[in-house]
Parts: sequence; C-alpha cells; structure tokens
Amino acid sequence: MKEAGYEIAVFPGDGTGPEVVREGLKVLAALAEGGPAPWHATPYPGGGQYYLQSGREWEPEGAAAAQRADAILLGAVGWPGATLPNGDIAGRALVLGLREGLDLYANVRPCRLYPGVKHRISGAFREVWSPQHVDMVIVRENTEGLYTPARGRLRRGGDTEVVIDTRVITRKGAERVIRYAFELARHRNRGAPEDGVKRVTCVDKANVLEGCRFFREVFEQVGKEYAEIDREFAYVDAFTQWLVRNPEHYNVAVATNMMGDIITDLAAVLQGGMGFAAGGNVGTDHAMFEPVHGSAPKYAGKNQVNPFATFFAVEQMLRWLATRHSDARLGRQADRLEQALAGVLAHGGAGTYDQGGTATTSEAGDRVAAAVRGIPA
Ligand code: IPM
Ligand code: MN
Repeated sequence: MKEAGYEIAVFPGDGTGPEVVREGLKVLAALAEGGPAPWHATPYPGGGQYYLQSGREWEPEGAAAAQRADAILLGAVGWPGATLPNGDIAGRALVLGLREGLDLYANVRPCRLYPGVKHRISGAFREVWSPQHVDMVIVRENTEGLYTPARGRLRRGGDTEVVIDTRVITRKGAERVIRYAFELARHRNRGAPEDGVKRVTCVDKANVLEGCRFFREVFEQVGKEYAEIDREFAYVDAFTQWLVRNPEHYNVAVATNMMGDIITDLAAVLQGGMGFAAGGNVGTDHAMFEPVHGSAPKYAGKNQVNPFATFFAVEQMLRWLATRHSDARLGRQADRLEQALAGVLAHGGAGTYDQGGTATTSEAGDRVAAAVRGIPA
C-alpha cells in the first residue's frame, strides 16, 4: 500500500478519447470525495492529432510519466491522415509502443452483459442474449504474434514487390499469458454461466499454424498445474460462431495477439457494443487501461459517445492496483464503482445514442458520479 497515493498517467489521446477520459476522471474524483484521494491523475498530451500539430507523438514528460506511473489510463489513439513517415499510425508510441516498452504482455478484456444493457443481436431460437448468458474474460497475448515488429517491404525499382509480416510465438510469451489466463480463472469467483465450471479455452488455428501448435503445447503444460480448471481447445474460426451461438459456455479464453484482437471486438457485441468494452494491458510492474472503442472520429467533439467503457476501464485499473499493492482501500473503491455502474445500467441503461437514447457523454458521467456518491465509502 502506498500511503502517498498512486500516480496515474492519463493520455486522453485522439478524437472521442478526451471526452470519455474527462468523464472517467469525473467519476474518479467522485470516488475520492470526502477523504484524501489515494491517487493523483495527471493528463499528458499525445496521439495522432497531437502529432499533426506538433510533429511529435508525445512529449518526454509523458513518456517519463508512463514509465514511472503506478498505472496508465488511455483514451484512444488514431486519427485520419495522422501517419508516421514509416507508415505506422501516429500515436503508436502510446499504444503499441507502451505495450512493447513496458512489457504489458496480457491484454485482458472482460465481456459481461449487464442487466439494462441492450445489444444488437436477435436470435431465432432464443429471443436475445440475457445477462446470465454473457460473462467471460478474453485474454489476448499483447507483445508478439503478428504484431511483432518483424515486417517489411521489398521495393525493387520503386514498386513494392513483396511484403512480409512475421508471426512470432515464443515460449516466454505464450507461457506467461497462458498462466495469466489460468490464474484469472482460479481467482475469479465464478465459472462459465452455463454450468458454473471454471474453464479456460485456448483459441487458435493449430490445424494449420505451427505457432499455434506450439501455443497448444504450452497451454497443455501450464494447464496441468491447474487441475481444478477445465481446459479445452477451439479453432478460431469455429470459435467465432460458438461465441455468438453459445456465449454461456465461456469463462476465460486465451488467444494469440491478432486472433485476440479480432475475437474481442466480436465479443463486444455480446456485451452491448464497443461502448462497454474495456481492456487492461497488464504486465508485471506496469499496466495500462483503456476503452477499446478507439477515437471514433465521426463523433469527436459531439459529447455523444458512451463513456461506460472508460468507467469499466477505471474499475479494472483500481482492481489491478488494489491487488498489486494489497491495498483494500482501492479494492473497496473498485467495488463501489462496479456497484454504481451496475445500478445505473439496471435503472435506465447507459442512455447514450448507441443504446437508443439521447443522453450526452457528460450526462452519463454525471449519473455515474451521482450513483458513486450514493454508495458509502
Ligand atoms: C486494440 C486496437 C489496437 C490493436 C490498434 C489501435 C493498434 O485495435 O487495442 O484492440 O490492434 O491492438
Ligand atoms: Mn482491436
């Protein structure tokens, strides 16, 4: 426990990032009312829009704060036309750069449908998915796989002739993310909605890819240490349909980087859309939390987007800090926030446009902040 409080480095970033982060900080401030705040959150500039203005993705102060901070809260990065000379997105330093640089090896994406949240799936056999069907965490490898910066173009005489992206799977990378998934299943207080069984699903393409065959081997080796947890394999293509047809079967799933990127956006549909999807980029000594929806340029500056993904990211951040520093104060604040979020959603939902409502981003934030104040510290 840190008496002096935890340092949170905040990167609002691009597009709607600053709007949702503003609401996240509003809710954090509401949690801290009536006592000395056990954290201090400092915003730093950076991202694609910042790059267009300044020629820099971020400032040395921000980079240093990211290294030093106890946790990082990120809004969103990416802006049309903001591209680095090498073709990468401007703002990469804040997302992919920090994942690599701080070794944030597990991308942890909870997918839970809360009562009061609507989604856009309609089924023929069952009317709609209900909250009791959707409650899983997808753990995505976050530092290698197809995202390994081992890629390039062969230009002969000016024209591009060959392009290569190399998919790298290492024992270290596979083992630690798989172990993370099993530890999560062990410590999570509930199993799959279908049967209450604690289960880890390895999502891969081992029928074709050697890296996935190796990922499976490591999964089997690590999984043996967790005898009480059910293990299973799913080919990623088949998994996409089972995920939608039978989400209640899933508890924790683990996947390599690119496959994890794709299946977590699909899973977000089950939890009400990207407006609710939060992710933690977790390492041993550092962690960064973010709404997964991105900068949504079309909605930027309109005070319209759903800030709940950011609230869930804040909750995840508080929980991670609480565990890492054995600090019950933060665990209590995370519980308060979750209770407030569940309460607001159950009574009227998020209310924002993506949920068919007319509430603004700031109104949604006000409702959550008020709900937080109503729950004793
Ligand atoms: C995500 C995003 C990022 C990714 C982008 C912004 C680089 O899609 O966090 O899922 O591909 O990992
Ligand atoms: Mn993604």
